[in-house]
This record gives sequence, structure tokens and C-alpha cells, in this order.
Amino acid sequence: MDAAQDPTDPPGPAPGLAGQTALVTGAGLRIGRAIALELARRGADVAVHVNRSVGPGEAVADEIRGLGRRACVVTADQRDVAAIEAACARAANELGPVSLLANSAAIWPSVDVTEATQEDFDLALEVNLRGPFFWARYLGAAMKARGRGAIVSIADVSAFRPWADAVPYCMAKAGVISMTYGLAKALAPVRVNAIGPGPIVFPPDYPPEKARADREATLRGREGEPADIARAVAFLFESDNVTGTFLPVDGGYRFGI
Ligand SMILES: NC(=O)c1ccc[n+]([C@@H]2O[C@H](COP(=O)([O-])OP(=O)(O)OC[C@H]3O[C@@H](n4cnc5c(N)ncnc54)[C@H](OP(=O)(O)O)[C@@H]3O)[C@@H](O)[C@H]2O)c1
Repeated sequence: MDAAQDPTDPPGPAPGLAGQTALVTGAGLRIGRAIALELARRGADVAVHVNRSVGPGEAVADEIRGLGRRACVVTADQRDVAAIEAACARAANELGPVSLLANSAAIWPSVDVTEATQEDFDLALEVNLRGPFFWARYLGAAMKARGRGAIVSIADVSAFRPWADAVPYCMAKAGVISMTYGLAKALAPVRVNAIGPGPIVFPPDYPPEKARADREATLRGREGEPADIARAVAFLFESDNVTGTFLPVDGGYRFGI
């Protein structure tokens, strides 16, 4: 048999993302920023979505242009479905059809369940579940019509190991995982996957004793880095036979020693 035709041969270098256009939500700061830059490093043009962080978003777009890729900034409060639709249209107008969506924007509101209001519940679910669904709905419909594309949503292993002081957040993230399985079927052949970070970057006001406990609850004794999530997103975008999966990238936090 010709060695060049051996199906067990490695296919050569990873295909990369040249020729693709990505939209990354919440891409002005932290994990979303790392995802946007990683995708650009692998060859994608990137629409940088922000809500309030317009200045940091413009800086990320400049960094992407510095890598030789095209970039634009789109703004939307993802509680507003019409704003999401408009931002999707703007990204496509500026950069061409969007073939990759990374859903990273979210909030992490702490709420005492015994005092929770309808507003607390709605806010957590609107930003963290309804928003990602409608980014996927608008961009995913266009991807499906073209017969190609991929979506990765950043969920959280707290979907399975919930925090008592953030129950609506954890419910929303469990919904993102369920959404991923459903969209993988509904949008096929578009590939749809989710990632479950554990502790990666703590909020600036996070109490040090909580950060210590979170680190100790991982199997590595430390939090991860935004780059860990960015590489996992790129892996899922580049892996043609992976769809309908949930990939924990949590240092073993879900085992919760
Ligand atoms: N950090 C961690 O350790 C960790 C752990 C587990 C899971 N995750 C998940 O990983 C993702 C990224 O985490 P992160 O810590 O980098 O997130 P983050 O900094 O808390 O938030 C990311 C972005 O979400 C955007 N956002 C908030 N409310 C919005 C709204 N109403 N409409 C549109 N955008 C909105 C913000 O954009 P603007 O700044 O432009 O307003 C913000 O920069 C999130 O989905 C998070 O749940 C993170």
C-alpha cells in the first residue's frame, strides 16, 4: 500500500483557521480577549463583540490587525435580542459571512436564593442563556444555509458542581450545555460544542480565601489561564469530527476534592 494513502497517517499540520471569520462575544477583556487573539493567530479574521468595554475592544481589534488579520468591533447588550441581530449583520457587512462563533460574554451574579427576586433570575438567564442562544440562532442560521460553520459556547463546570450563592448562574450554564446538544442536532452540519472552565481568572473583588479554596479544589492546586480556554476553543473549531460535546477545561475542579 502506498504509504501516502495509509489512513492512519497523520494528516499533517493542523488546518488552522485561515479564510474563516469569527465573532467572539465579550472579547474586550479576560477570556474573550484571549479567544479572539488566539483565533487571529491561527488565521481567522475576527469581529470583537463588546457591551461596555468599547475602548478595550478597539485595542483587541488593533492587536488583531497587527497580526495581519482583519477585525471590527461590534457592540450589543445581549439582553436585547434585536441588538444581537443587528451586531451579527454588522459583523457580516464588515468582514463577510461569519463561520465561527465563540459565545464567551456572561455575568456571574451572586444571589441569596432565599431573597432572590424575579429580576435576579431574569438577569442571570437573559445574559447567560438567552443571549448565547440568539447569537447562535442568527449566526448559526446563516452558517447552516451555507452548509459550514462552528459554534463554541463557554459554559462552566459549575453546571454540575453548583455554587450555592449563584444558583441562577449555574442553571443558565447547565442550559448552555443542553443548548449545545440541541443546536448540534438542529444546526447540523454546523458543529456546536461547549467548554466548561473551572477557576481561570477570579473577579477583581473576589475574596482571597475563596480563591484559595477554589485553587485547592482543583487537582493541580492552581487556577487555569485564559490561554487554556482559548486553545480549547481553537481545538474545537479545528476538529472537523467533533460536535455535540462538552469539554471540561477545569484542572479537575469538577471532582471537587
Ligand atoms: N473567569 C473564570 O474563571 C470562569 C470560570 C468558569 C466559567 N467562565 C466563563 O467563561 C466566560 C468568560 O469569563 P470571563 O471571566 O472572561 O468573563 P467576564 O470578564 O466576567 O465577562 C466577559 C464579558 O461579558 C460581557 N457582558 C457582560 N454582560 C453583558 C451583556 N449584558 N451583554 C453583552 N455582553 C455582556 C462583558 O462585556 P463588556 O466588558 O464589553 O461590558 C464582559 O467583558 C464566561 O462565559 C464565564 O461564565 C469563566
